[in-house]
Amino acid sequence: MKECRGRNLFFSTDLDKEIEEADVIFISVNTPTKTKGIGAGSAANIKNCELCARHIAKVATSSKIVVEKSTVPVRTAEAINRILTANEKQPNVTFQVLSNPEFLAEGTAMSDLMKPDRVLIGGSQTPEGLKAIETVVSVYANWVPREQILTTNLWSSELSKLVANAFLAQRVSSINSISALCEVTGADVTEISRAVGMDDRIGKRFLQPSVGFGGSCFQKDILNLVYLCETYGLQPCADYWRQVIAMNDFQKKRFSEEIVSAMFNTVTGKKIAILGYAFKKDTGDVRETPSMFIVRDLLEENAKIHVYDPQVTREDMWSEMSYTCGVNHDNTPKLDEYVTTCDDPYEACKGAHAVCIMTEWDEFKTYDYKKIYDNMQKPAFLFDGRLLLNHKELRDIGFEVHAIGKPDPIKFPGSAIA
Ligand code: UGA
Repeated sequence: MKECRGRNLFFSTDLDKEIEEADVIFISVNTPTKTKGIGAGSAANIKNCELCARHIAKVATSSKIVVEKSTVPVRTAEAINRILTANEKQPNVTFQVLSNPEFLAEGTAMSDLMKPDRVLIGGSQTPEGLKAIETVVSVYANWVPREQILTTNLWSSELSKLVANAFLAQRVSSINSISALCEVTGADVTEISRAVGMDDRIGKRFLQPSVGFGGSCFQKDILNLVYLCETYGLQPCADYWRQVIAMNDFQKKRFSEEIVSAMFNTVTGKKIAILGYAFKKDTGDVRETPSMFIVRDLLEENAKIHVYDPQVTREDMWSEMSYTCGVNHDNTPKLDEYVTTCDDPYEACKGAHAVCIMTEWDEFKTYDYKKIYDNMQKPAFLFDGRLLLNHKELRDIGFEVHAIGKPDPIKFPGSAIA
């Protein structure tokens, strides 16, 4: 950013001037799940996209290509197009609406941008639409090989984004459903993931079992897809996709229930260290983070929770907890007494009955677990929600380890591998 700023990257808050001067405008605003009204809880709110379109139409005195970058329900471009056309300032001004969904992921955004698997550009299949597509293709062609730039009709492009996220989330839910089966049969989910993923047709990525997927995209986009299916009267399709979320909820619940049941069915007053609050490593983002649901459940049990995360702020933690779980200082007065945030992981674990690994931060692998163990209450429990650590080493130290989808060596002697 520093290198490009002032050269061919400029930031401005002078909206009207920038719209006026631009040939291509990307609408990159958020489209959160509606919380009220029709479709509350599943439909995406495209209010912000609509406001952008209205403003562009109001200000523009020359023709523009308007690109949907935001994740939107299929056929949003139709609405954008109608708003633009109905509000045109001058008759000689025309608009071409394109869809160019974002595929980059948090924590790897720059490398995803520089080396994308593909760039997708959808537009109307008219001479004007195809010309607009070519203009945007030529921008990406500066650093992305042409064969990785896919062009499609508008609706395929819009829908592909939702489908890509739904398929990725489905893989996580699929492997997580198998993790539950592994725990009761003595099979090892890592071995299964490897064996299944080595089939080229399946592939090995996104088969990492976890305490559940989080983030601002998967759940929101699947709900968006579910709502679309319902709107078009396709209830079985809606039910099918909703199950991906139901499985994710089950996985989170299962994890907190395992903590309570392993610790002699009570965690009341016990200190529990939560290592990791972000929804994935290398980000401070806590939206829909699985860690939050575990903390919420443990709060219900009156545990004393000590949270350490390398990036997450206490403020973000509470605002997301209030927004998504409805738990806040007003309705839960003892929150500060029950939840402590720590700047030091060893402090978080000191005197604890249990340590829970909730995010796959690399630094968690480098800790001195012997030192952590020595300072804990005994038996010292460790719950690995990300299969991040070496469980054999931990058991040799003395920990009682519970890990997602891994055979418990006491229940299944002879099955456990590190
Ligand atoms: C996701 C998609 O991967 C991006 O392609 C997309 O552009 C983005 O949403 C978006 O719509 O903006 P993101 O939510 O940043 O990206 O993160 P992911 O890497 O997809 O991880 C999502 C969740 O799944 C995380 O909680 C992660 O820990 C979990 N996960 C991922 C697993 O539990 N297991 C896996 O094998 C992979």
